[in-house]
Amino acid sequence: MTAAPALVAGEYAFTPRDFDRIAAMLRADAGIALTEGKAALVYSRLAKRLRSLGLPDFSSYCTLLERDPGGAERREMLASLTTNVTRFLREPHHFEQIVRDVLPPLAEAARRGQRVRLWSAGCSTGEEPYTLALSVLEAMPDAANHDLRILATDIDPVVLETARKATYSEDALAPVAPHLRTRFFEPAGPGQLRARPALRDLVAFRELNLNASSWPLRQRYAAILCRNVAIYFDEPTQARLWSRFAEVATPGAWLFIGHSERVVGPAAARWRSSGLTSYRLAGGTP
Ligand SMILES: C[S@@+](CC[C@H](N)C(=O)[O-])C[C@H]1O[C@@H](n2cnc3c(N)ncnc32)[C@H](O)[C@@H]1O
Repeated sequence: MTAAPALVAGEYAFTPRDFDRIAAMLRADAGIALTEGKAALVYSRLAKRLRSLGLPDFSSYCTLLERDPGGAERREMLASLTTNVTRFLREPHHFEQIVRDVLPPLAEAARRGQRVRLWSAGCSTGEEPYTLALSVLEAMPDAANHDLRILATDIDPVVLETARKATYSEDALAPVAPHLRTRFFEPAGPGQLRARPALRDLVAFRELNLNASSWPLRQRYAAILCRNVAIYFDEPTQARLWSRFAEVATPGAWLFIGHSERVVGPAAARWRSSGLTSYRLAGGTP
């Protein structure tokens, strides 16, 4: 019998069958669709895992992963293959709209004693929810005295650990207006700034797989940011996600998605376009 041809040449044997096995697991666990064009990326990111586990080839790695679908290595594999690129004030038009249109009525509702929850779904290392928290403090400096908070979730525990540390380089914080940077960040070593408690305390980070069969959420969300996450999902997974967001949103809630994403499937009738990649849930205002 001849060996299967290598998909990517390298230290470890990696065949098309190995790629398919990894793609099937990634789709089942996270809803992420891998195309074969990503083979070199899969190889380079996972070769490190094979090395640290002392495995001879990708086939043995796949067998190990398949044996324990909920296991730690399966989560390591997921974390290695997700794309975590993010930055402060990414797609700034969303935050302009949030400060101008979204937050003023929510601030009023919070001052009247209502609970207001915002959700950054697929928050990566925290730049998005902290940008949202800066927007909240800009629109509502007294936010801490009211029940207005941000939930920030991601499937990847490694990025969440970074997010909770809330420490960023001065370069990463360059897009943030100087008066907000000075007010809400403090020096934390050479070239590093850490979010002050006033900013950190508005955000709670939790691990949550958007593709899980149920979400451990008790609240309803008046604004959901899920940007540059669904782009990695296949279309049925995207369609299901937009529907599920509608189920956990308040009437008239806002949804913000990434610049190359669009709302597809049955929920497209419920999320009405309300700006550049921003939507509102049909059915009243919160
Ligand atoms: C490219 S980052 C986007 C970060 C941020 N939303 C932004 O736009 O800058 C995508 C994030 O989605 C997360 N992600 C991917 N699949 C996920 C899933 N099934 N559930 C939750 N988060 C997921 C990744 O771990 C990653 O941190």
